[in-house]
Amino acid sequence: MAILKIARMGHPVLRRPAEPVETPIPAVVKQLATDMIETMLDAPGVGLAAPQVHVGWRVIVFRVPADRSTGQPGDTVVEPQVLINPEIEPLSDEMALGWEGCLSIPGLRGAVPRWTRIRYRGLGLDGQPVEREATGFHARVIQHEVDHLDAVLYLDRMPDMRLLTFTEEMKYFGTGFGAAPPPGEGRRATDPQP
Ligand code: NI
Repeated sequence: MAILKIARMGHPVLRRPAEPVETPIPAVVKQLATDMIETMLDAPGVGLAAPQVHVGWRVIVFRVPADRSTGQPGDTVVEPQVLINPEIEPLSDEMALGWEGCLSIPGLRGAVPRWTRIRYRGLGLDGQPVEREATGFHARVIQHEVDHLDAVLYLDRMPDMRLLTFTEEMKYFGTGFGAAPPPGEGRRATDPQP
């Protein structure tokens, strides 16, 4: 087990698309995924993608903690887990704005539109196929992490840069700074970041 160094925005590894992992899953990838979970929990964060720890493989780790879960179907608590070679399919046209941070962009939060309902597929740490439907925060964190595999950062998806803020300022001023914040999302601003 090891805590890995996290790349910050500006490091080119975050702007290179990641490569699929071969099967059967090599032991070195399993070790990486285990270290990524430890790194995510240490940060603390709710998600991490391999390029964020300087590795160009399509591996993500994530979790849905109790304080982010709505308890609705597809958005229940998810313990820390690994998804290898993930793929996403939106299940409706609906998108919603929500606050996101990123361990590679420390100290900032921005409002990002994401699909509200998705199906995702991939392989678990044991090499078995995983297929799930996700909504709410669960759907959001998966989309954020898979974007990292495609060299996309959440800033790239923000339609309104007025909704970019330092986390510390949100503590004092909430989400109101001229533009309408996403309803009910303000108190999420200082939560752990993907
Ligand atoms: Ni991120």
